[in-house]
Amino acid sequence: MERSLWLFLFVLIANLAISHLARVQSQEGFISLDCGLPVNEESPYNESEATGLLYSSDATFIQSGKTESIEADLGREYPKPLRTLRYFPEGKRNCYNLNVEKGRNHLISARFLYGNYDGHGKGPKFDLYLGPNLWATVDLRGNENGTWEEILHIPTSNKLQICLVKTGESVPMISALELRPMGIDSYVIESGSLNLFFREYFTESDTYIRFPEDVYDRRWFSYFRKQEWTQISTSSFVGNFNDYDPPKDALATAAIPTDASEPWTYEWDHSDNPSASYYLYAHFAEIQDLQANDTREFNILFNGQQYDGPLIPKKLEITTIVNSSPRTCDGGECSFQLTRTDRSTLPPLLNALEVYTVIQFPHSETEESDVITINSIKDAYELNTINWQGDPCVPRDLIWDGLNCSYTNISTPPRITSLDLSSTGLTGTIAAALQNLTQLEKLDLSNNKLTGGVPEFLGNMKSLTVINLSGNNLNGSIPQALQGKGLELSVEGNPMLCVSASCRKSPKKKFPLAIVVASVVGAAIVITVLVLFLVIRKKKSTVVEGLHLLPGASAVNATFANKSSRRFTYSEVVKMTNNFHRVLGKGGFGMVYHGSVNGYEQVAVKVLSQSSTQGYKEFKAEVDLLMRVHHTNLVSLVGYCYEGDHLALIYEFLPNGDLKQHLSGKGGGSIINWSTRLRIALEAALGLEYLHVGCKPPMVHRDIKTANILLDENFKAKIADFGLSRSFQGGGDSEESTVIAGSRGYLDPEYNHSGRLAEKSDVYSFGIVLLEMITNQPVINQTSEYPHITQRVGFQIKRGDILEVMDPNLGKDYDINSAWRALELAMSCANPSSSKRPSMSQVINELKECITCENSGISTNRGLESQEVNVGLDTTVVPMAR
Ligand SMILES: *[C@@H]1O[C@H](CO)[C@@H](O)[C@H](O)[C@H]1NC(C)=O
Ligand SMILES: *[C@@H]1O[C@H](CO)[C@@H](O)[C@H](O)[C@H]1NC(C)=O
Ligand SMILES: *[C@@H]1O[C@H](CO)[C@@H](O)[C@H](O)[C@H]1NC(C)=O
Ligand SMILES: *[C@@H]1O[C@H](CO)[C@@H](O)[C@H](O)[C@H]1NC(C)=O
Ligand SMILES: *[C@@H]1O[C@H](CO)[C@@H](O)[C@H](O)[C@H]1NC(C)=O
Ligand SMILES: *[C@@H]1O[C@H](CO)[C@@H](O)[C@H](O)[C@H]1NC(C)=O
Ligand SMILES: *[C@@H]1O[C@H](CO)[C@@H](O)[C@H](O)[C@H]1NC(C)=O
Ligand SMILES: *[C@@H]1O[C@H](CO)[C@@H](O)[C@H](O)[C@H]1NC(C)=O
Repeated sequence: MERSLWLFLFVLIANLAISHLARVQSQEGFISLDCGLPVNEESPYNESEATGLLYSSDATFIQSGKTESIEADLGREYPKPLRTLRYFPEGKRNCYNLNVEKGRNHLISARFLYGNYDGHGKGPKFDLYLGPNLWATVDLRGNENGTWEEILHIPTSNKLQICLVKTGESVPMISALELRPMGIDSYVIESGSLNLFFREYFTESDTYIRFPEDVYDRRWFSYFRKQEWTQISTSSFVGNFNDYDPPKDALATAAIPTDASEPWTYEWDHSDNPSASYYLYAHFAEIQDLQANDTREFNILFNGQQYDGPLIPKKLEITTIVNSSPRTCDGGECSFQLTRTDRSTLPPLLNALEVYTVIQFPHSETEESDVITINSIKDAYELNTINWQGDPCVPRDLIWDGLNCSYTNISTPPRITSLDLSSTGLTGTIAAALQNLTQLEKLDLSNNKLTGGVPEFLGNMKSLTVINLSGNNLNGSIPQALQGKGLELSVEGNPMLCVSASCRKSPKKKFPLAIVVASVVGAAIVITVLVLFLVIRKKKSTVVEGLHLLPGASAVNATFANKSSRRFTYSEVVKMTNNFHRVLGKGGFGMVYHGSVNGYEQVAVKVLSQSSTQGYKEFKAEVDLLMRVHHTNLVSLVGYCYEGDHLALIYEFLPNGDLKQHLSGKGGGSIINWSTRLRIALEAALGLEYLHVGCKPPMVHRDIKTANILLDENFKAKIADFGLSRSFQGGGDSEESTVIAGSRGYLDPEYNHSGRLAEKSDVYSFGIVLLEMITNQPVINQTSEYPHITQRVGFQIKRGDILEVMDPNLGKDYDINSAWRALELAMSCANPSSSKRPSMSQVINELKECITCENSGISTNRGLESQEVNVGLDTTVVPMAR
């Protein structure tokens, strides 16, 4: 007896202490927002003597919307938090941002009282979202007393967004917003959140209970069916401690069936959501003084099925019965019943009942780090884009302007993959926070007023492939880190930004090739292009695999196919050539050395004699232009060096040397057969045609000769040194020195009159090359009566001395028709009058026919008979001997 008294006292004291604590402290964690509270009013304010709840203005939790009050004469009828409201005439989605405790259950309640604030007399209809997920549709049409939505929800991050989304013409509005952190183990369910269906306590009095009687500020409405039920009550203290802690006032009364033999029944019809699934929280406590021979025992049934029990409610102490898995009802018609057991002497009782429906929020929020980052960027640039509210990526139809996201599936957090803030008036520097958008692929900050440098971190963002910084006021230079990984970087229109090679920081690594900085300062001036791109080239493609290519580039299988060209330092050149160890040859412009990059990729390094009178600017402009030219039959320029007196051009290396050495048999060259010669001629012609037709602007080689036609490992021909004779003057000491332009014997005779070299000049030189390939005679033979090859061959043809014309090394192993056609073609190319020369395209067609001819006549007509030649000789195409 004594012991139970002590226990009682202990419980009483504990209760008092806790309820005192509740009154004093329990608003901790509460968020109570009076939406639209005028700024000049006190905030926070004490809601009422009854609750003591402190309501604050919502102004710091949302950045959009306007404020208004409900009609004045309605005002007195409603508690103060409902008298003002915030409405949202602009933007499709407007959101409150609240700080919550991740993983903790929260009671979230949103209140809406239209109160004819706009004088239209018709309430709005709109959607309410919790983060990316639809929570409820709020319909205030004809709902003069307002409505509210209440949910028990566990936030997945420390930020919670409650959004009002416009669904039609009407303007969303909200009166009050309340958040209450719940107890740790309460209302835990399998999946989803709990949407309040009803929460009632059974009493005949017409009151409702909330804070501070309910420590979590749940609202308990009184409910009673006077016919069916009879109220019982107690003035004793009812122990209300369990995970749910319902207010003890809600437990002090209970309903029993009026007809004690009948079950206690509560039915509801939720036909507007017939597939709803339910969680029920039934709170029982015995509040009657029972006789010794009395028993109250009952079973609990849901939709006629045994649900729990038999239960004997504890005297003045709570028992809460919860279903462990959600329940559904046929057609939305549900019934909750208590049926007394046979041995029970008293009817069943129920003190309070909460019913929730399960609401699923399937859409995963955008990855939290992306959300934090994009919001910090928004803050840093003070962006007030109306649609930058709520979750950045979901729902997809409300994605923030300027963003793109990756969506794996509904339950995987989306990631921000592209950010377009062009023309948004950004000021300040490029925000460091951007680097935290780790999945970003495209970044467009163009047309703003950004200042400061281009940050290095942009180069370290692994997914980033496209950056547009054009049209800002950036300064400094492009960091090395951005020059790699196939980034497409646009920086034009930043007058203070240095984009030329001279102000680039010197590279730390040897050959971090593959870059592009396409930076066009002036209109069509591609000269400012820092480095060129050799990676994958396609005709007319502008962007290929992250590389910004310029028009005119074409496919090439260069040894540097996966590299990019760029400037090399002199010490790199020294290292590359192993201190100029192996000489490949000596050309009109200087010595050519063998080199290697990365130990395996071979290059040919042409060290230019220092007679180049150009300054660096002209040199680089020239080189940039040359590096843009790519064709399978042109030797690729992969880099250059310009350092003080040291000028060098670095080309792809062609292991089989030049055509000249193969025709002459000098320098270890092998004699190549007729059909190979035809193919080489065709390939060289294709390369030359590309310079004439495929390049914009067209390019004249000016120095076509057998020494400039190089052969790769498969004897594929590639033209070398294109574009050089215009810019670089040779030393003048070589056998075939380049005088002004072109080499002796190959130079278009019209040049002497016109002083200019055009495409047809190259055709002339090509004709000479072709004659050499057919005849293997020297271009100039001073000891001969006819020093120039055209004179000699023309004379021999005239004489009908055809056998004499052909290279004896061929050993008559050729088709005469093809040989003849080639000879004819060569002579017409070498016509002294440029207007009579064919174009390179015509040359190509003719060479193709020669090849067809050679292939079809492969086993017949071997050997060249003079009669046959005479028959085929059309004197009109044979040039006059000079
Ligand atoms: C609210 O006001 C009432 C009196 O109007 C007062 O008793 C109560 O302590 C106040 N509550 C708070 C938290 O200030
Ligand atoms: C609004 O509340 C008043 C007073 O409580 C009540 O008389 C009226 O029926 C309610 N209106 C509606 C539409 O529920
Ligand atoms: C229980 O005992 C009381 C007297 O103590 C008596 O009046 C009552 O009828 C009994 N009830 C039953 C069901 O036996
Ligand atoms: C987002 O993707 C769509 C479709 O792929 C595209 O049209 C749009 O330009 C992209 N937006 C941004 C900002 O990159
Ligand atoms: C979503 O994708 C993730 C990762 O690919 C996978 O683990 C998960 O099972 C997927 N979920 C659904 C619902 O498809
Ligand atoms: C990037 O994210 C990290 C970790 O989340 C954070 O510490 C850092 O401050 C962020 N950086 C910027 C520039 O916002
Ligand atoms: C970069 O932005 C400018 C201005 O918005 C635009 O004109 C240009 O085309 C963009 N460049 C690329 C490569 O998208
Ligand atoms: C770039 O501009 C900023 C101010 O906008 C200045 O502080 C900084 O010194 C400039 N940097 C260079 C390299 O000119």
